[in-house]
This record gives sequence, C-alpha cells and structure tokens, in this order.
Amino acid sequence: MTTEYAVRATGVGKTFPTKAGDVVALTEVELTVSAGEFVSLIGPSGCGKSTLLRLIADLDGATTGELEIFGKPAAKARVDQDYGIAFQQAGLLPWRTVGGNIALPLELHGMAKPDRAKRVADLAELVGLSDFIDRFPDQLSGGMQQRVAIARSLAEQPRLLLMDEPFGALDEMTREYLQGELTRIAKETGAAVVFVTHSIPEAVFLSDRVVVMSPRPGRITDIIETPLGDARDEALRESPEYFERVTAVREALHGTPVERANER
Ligand SMILES: Nc1ncnc2c1ncn2[C@@H]1O[C@H](COP(=O)(O)OP(=O)(O)OP(=O)(O)O)[C@@H](O)[C@H]1O
Ligand SMILES: [Mg+2]
Repeated sequence: MTTEYAVRATGVGKTFPTKAGDVVALTEVELTVSAGEFVSLIGPSGCGKSTLLRLIADLDGATTGELEIFGKPAAKARVDQDYGIAFQQAGLLPWRTVGGNIALPLELHGMAKPDRAKRVADLAELVGLSDFIDRFPDQLSGGMQQRVAIARSLAEQPRLLLMDEPFGALDEMTREYLQGELTRIAKETGAAVVFVTHSIPEAVFLSDRVVVMSPRPGRITDIIETPLGDARDEALRESPEYFERVTAVREALHGTPVERANER
C-alpha cells in the first residue's frame, strides 16, 4: 500500500527534563512531507531542528503528539528501514574502504555478496566515486567523505532521507556542488528529503518547501513554498525567482527572535 505522506507530524512536542527544569524543545509541531517532496528545516540554533529530525528517525520519542512515517509509527518505520540518515559528520568507519562503508547497511541486512557488489558499484557511481571504491576515508577530501555518507544513506533505496546539516563542514564551492548532486539524486531515486540547514540560500535552492522554526519553545512559525521547478542548476542561483524566495525566507526568519539565537 502506498501512502501519500512520507512524514506526518500531528501535535508533536518534546520536553527534556533537566536538573535546571524542563526544556521544551518542541511544541505543537504540525507538518506533513509528501512522498518525493524536498523539505528543509531552518531556524536559529536551539529551535529544535535536530530534535525534530531525531523524532522522525525514532532516535528519540516525542513527549506529545503523533509521528507517522509512510503511515506507520516511527518505531515501525525504523525497523523497516524506511529511511536513510546522514549527519553533519560523515561518520565513516576508518578501517573500511569507500566500498566497505557503503556496503555496511547492506551487510547488516544480509544482502548476498554478488548483489551487494553490484549495488555498491551503482551507489558509488551515483555519487561520482567509482574510481575511489578501494580508497580509505582518510585518503578522501571532506566533500568526498560526505558523498560516501550520502551513498551509504541511500544503500537500502529509502523512500525518505533525513539529513542534519550534511554540508555544514564543507567549503562553499563543494557545498554548492553537492547541493546540485543531492537534488539530482533525490529526483533520480524519488526519495522524500527532510533537510536541516542554517543556510537560507541552501534551503531555497534545494527545497520544494522551507519550514521556518523559532526557539523557546521550538515551533514552526512559517512554511514558505519554493516552487522553483526541476532545474536546480547554477543558472537558478542567479535568477530573480530564486532571489525573491531567498528574501521571503529571510523575512520569515527575521520574524523570529534572532538575537536570542545563541542562548540555550
Ligand atoms: N538530550 C537533551 N537534553 C536536554 N536538552 C536538550 C537535549 N537535546 C536537545 N536539547 C535542547 O533542546 C533544544 C533544541 O535542540 P536542538 O539540538 O534540536 O536544536 P537545533 O535547532 O538543532 O540547534 P542547532 O542549529 O544548534 O543544531 C535546545 O534548547 C537544546 O538545548
Ligand atoms: Mg541541530
């Protein structure tokens, strides 16, 4: 059965009890992400972006509300491997080659060796690393390591990708290059993406919709449509429509208490 929504959050809240009292990380989050849709979460530090992603990934449980992934409870979706995850640090195993790192989830789930080799080769090609399959992570640049992490997150052909500032540690040129690659890969695989970023231009370039969040307590304050078409290429970055959407997201963000962004 196919379900319309990749993610559906209804009245989701998350409170962390701490010695200093309860920290309300998220409150009243209502969000749906359609199958194949690219949605970015943006907002000042501490507004709950990572927390929301962790709840979707079932790495933590919501205090209130409900989360459904393809119509299932988050815990079931995790067991079913319905999504791939990539974080800010590539998190590769240094003693494994590029191919060995990409193959890891496939090994864990018992894919036969010949099938695995074929799939790893396809994934390496998808992220442009065919010539580096036998290299070790410390022989790669940061951008290449991040591409390995993306290939690994795609290994099980997830219908949903969860990404927390995956390009945060990269230089601007590599970052823009990988943004283009990611939109291409998302389109080719048909995966929905929930992408956390601090960068307004990055969010606009990648997304179908940009979710603007605000802290204390963390909540969604705005959702900006960014329907810029399928051609997410370098020409788009210089187009008036793109600038217009960047401005719209910036204005939505400025409605939030930015001056308190560094408080926790
Ligand atoms: N395990 C935890 N225990 C207590 N408080 C937590 C925990 N995890 C997160 N928080 C708090 O929840 C709030 C949201 O944190 P979160 O990491 O989701 O923010 P963020 O939007 O991802 O920020 P950043 O942009 O800096 O990554 C913060 O106030 C944070 O201190
Ligand atoms: Mg975070």
